[in-house]
Amino acid sequence: MTASGRGRAGAKVVLLGEHAVVYDRPALAAGVPIHLDAEAWPGRGPRLEADGPADERGAALVGQAAAAVGLDPGAWIVRVRSEIPPGRGLGSSAALCVATLRALADAAGRPLPRADELALGRRLEVLFHGTPSGIDPAAASLGCSLRFRRGEPPEVTPLSLAAALPLVIAWGGEARRTAGAVGGLRERWMQDRACYEALFDAVADLVNAGERALVAGDLAAFGRACDENQRLLEAMGVSSPDVEARIALARGAGALGAKLTGGGAGGAIIAVAPDGDAVERALRAAGATVLRVLVPAAR
Ligand code: MEV
Repeated sequence: MTASGRGRAGAKVVLLGEHAVVYDRPALAAGVPIHLDAEAWPGRGPRLEADGPADERGAALVGQAAAAVGLDPGAWIVRVRSEIPPGRGLGSSAALCVATLRALADAAGRPLPRADELALGRRLEVLFHGTPSGIDPAAASLGCSLRFRRGEPPEVTPLSLAAALPLVIAWGGEARRTAGAVGGLRERWMQDRACYEALFDAVADLVNAGERALVAGDLAAFGRACDENQRLLEAMGVSSPDVEARIALARGAGALGAKLTGGGAGGAIIAVAPDGDAVERALRAAGATVLRVLVPAAR
């Protein structure tokens, strides 16, 4: 009898360095404890069953993931249930790729080594985001805070923070696509490489400063790095007025720093908020959905 299989992967936030990470600069990310669950079973496929409209990319994902773990690509159906809001920069596509891979690997009776999961996760994510760096599947795969730098293989280093990091994550009703933000930035970069490369270098310096702050437990310095990163993301053209309005509200309510997270162009923000109640109230009053997270200190 052929077995069915299950897999789970989590959401993520990019703490510092999104977009520049596509251009080989380092970035920091953290896992977020909301999840996507996948169940795979034999049947006429490939097919992905999810809430929401069916999409041919889902079938391609199931077929490619099945083949990658040595299964017949035409003979599997995967059903997903997700707590991760799509189109908000919280890594729903990467969680879908990693959870689908895990479910099919479970069905095949051969759990994937981490290095293979990272490489395959990134390859599958291309179905959803033209030129991903791989940071999203790395965060979905590890589920902890990490430093990432793209490459073959990527550098993925779990971080040990000196103190837990209190974040308020907030997003609005409008979904957007990371692929659009990444593609738009690529066009601007091709027009003026020197300008954008300088912005990416400045982001890399901030990522290093932010990492030092987290490892030292200096939340105020990390908050300043977030604010400065947001300024650079605005200069790259990947921010948006609704995101900036939420950031202003969070700062006004006492956040130590705030920025967009992930693809931008709308989507979620993160605010560093040791006393998050006032920040949460201000964002909810403006209609945002809010998630409070304490990124754990030690791994
Ligand atoms: C998306 O979470 C992060 C981006 O840098 C894209 C990527 O690295 O694949 C915008």
